[in-house]
Amino acid sequence: MDLFEFTAPCHFGLEAVLKREITNLGFKIMETTDGRVTFSGGIESMCEANIRLRSAERVLLKVGEFKAESFEELFQGTLACPWEKFIPEDGKFWVTKAASVKSALFSPSDIQSVMKKAMVDRLHKIYNKNIFPESGAHYPVRVFIKNDIVTVCLDTTGTSLHKRGYREMAGKAPISETLAAALIMLTPWNKDRILVDPFCGSGTFLIEAAMMAANIAPGLKRSFLSESWTNLIKEDSWAAVREKCESRISIPEKTDLQGYDADKDVIAVARENAAKAGVAQLIHFQVRDVSALSHPKKYGFIITNPPYGERLEELEALPALYKELGERFKALDSWSAYIISSYEQTEKYMGQKANKNRKLYNGMIKTYFYQFEGPKPPKKHDIKA
Ligand SMILES: C[S@@+](CC[C@H](N)C(=O)[O-])C[C@H]1O[C@@H](n2cnc3c(N)ncnc32)[C@H](O)[C@@H]1O
Repeated sequence: MDLFEFTAPCHFGLEAVLKREITNLGFKIMETTDGRVTFSGGIESMCEANIRLRSAERVLLKVGEFKAESFEELFQGTLACPWEKFIPEDGKFWVTKAASVKSALFSPSDIQSVMKKAMVDRLHKIYNKNIFPESGAHYPVRVFIKNDIVTVCLDTTGTSLHKRGYREMAGKAPISETLAAALIMLTPWNKDRILVDPFCGSGTFLIEAAMMAANIAPGLKRSFLSESWTNLIKEDSWAAVREKCESRISIPEKTDLQGYDADKDVIAVARENAAKAGVAQLIHFQVRDVSALSHPKKYGFIITNPPYGERLEELEALPALYKELGERFKALDSWSAYIISSYEQTEKYMGQKANKNRKLYNGMIKTYFYQFEGPKPPKKHDIKA
């Protein structure tokens, strides 16, 4: 079996979560760097990774890596990459994204045009053609330059993996699906435990949790750019992975997943999204203000992203809102709370210090993931009959 290298970008700070997911799929980790995990596998890994990874943003297929401090070196390095192994005669190819960190070359438009020229030069010689029709499948190239090392990849995903296909509508400031999934995986929550999101908006945390509980692969309901790369991978391979994932779905008989929000319109959206994701029966959504947050059982989890005051009037309301959340949380016996927020006064107004705190970016917004860890439930054999 030919081995290929793949790189999956993820949210900065959540590489360990993605690494664990990739290892669980059975692929060999090659490298973990800021915001990306590189692994190796057969070409079919492309289907598994795209369909099954919950915390990756996309899956890139590595074409080459070389050092370049000048455009001439960039041209020669690109020319030496084995493009014909990936791009057929009628393929459409272009450099869709060029990112550079601490490197001599940084102008995206220049990097893009030099690399396209080198690719045309190489394929021109190999295919013995002056003009490429570029009428076939699309092969967008993504380039990442760090400390003058150029990593050249083809994007196998297309539309980013956070678009699962269930959230056409969202409330205000929705959290990305990949970030929500990664944060849930950072906590000890599992399908047998209670989960409440008191500011659930369009329901992202609960829908992601329900999909995990039912073992529904996140990419089952969408397509991927590389499905048209029939020169590299048979259509059957995608169908085989989808079939395997379908057969592994197991809807639990009982879950305790609750989503509340003060806005009734947004609760209607959350219900619709959950239905599209195929998990409506696993989640209870309700219009409820955070001041009415309660639960009769012990050892539950709150995972949420409360409002963080993008508008002035919202900002003024935050102290009272976070105080309310803090008081409701304290009244819940033996619960844990995991809160992602950019509001720097979160701990002050919640009236307690988090056990752990992680800086993360939600898009361009700097946020903190505050982890208030409650006690673990006793093991079954510790409970006397
Ligand atoms: C940042 S958004 C949550 C977005 C959500 N995670 C999603 O993915 O769509 C915050 C939510 O808190 C809700 N909210 C604001 N004040 C509230 C209150 N007092 N009680 C309950 N919900 C409230 C808003 O309606 C909004 O949907």
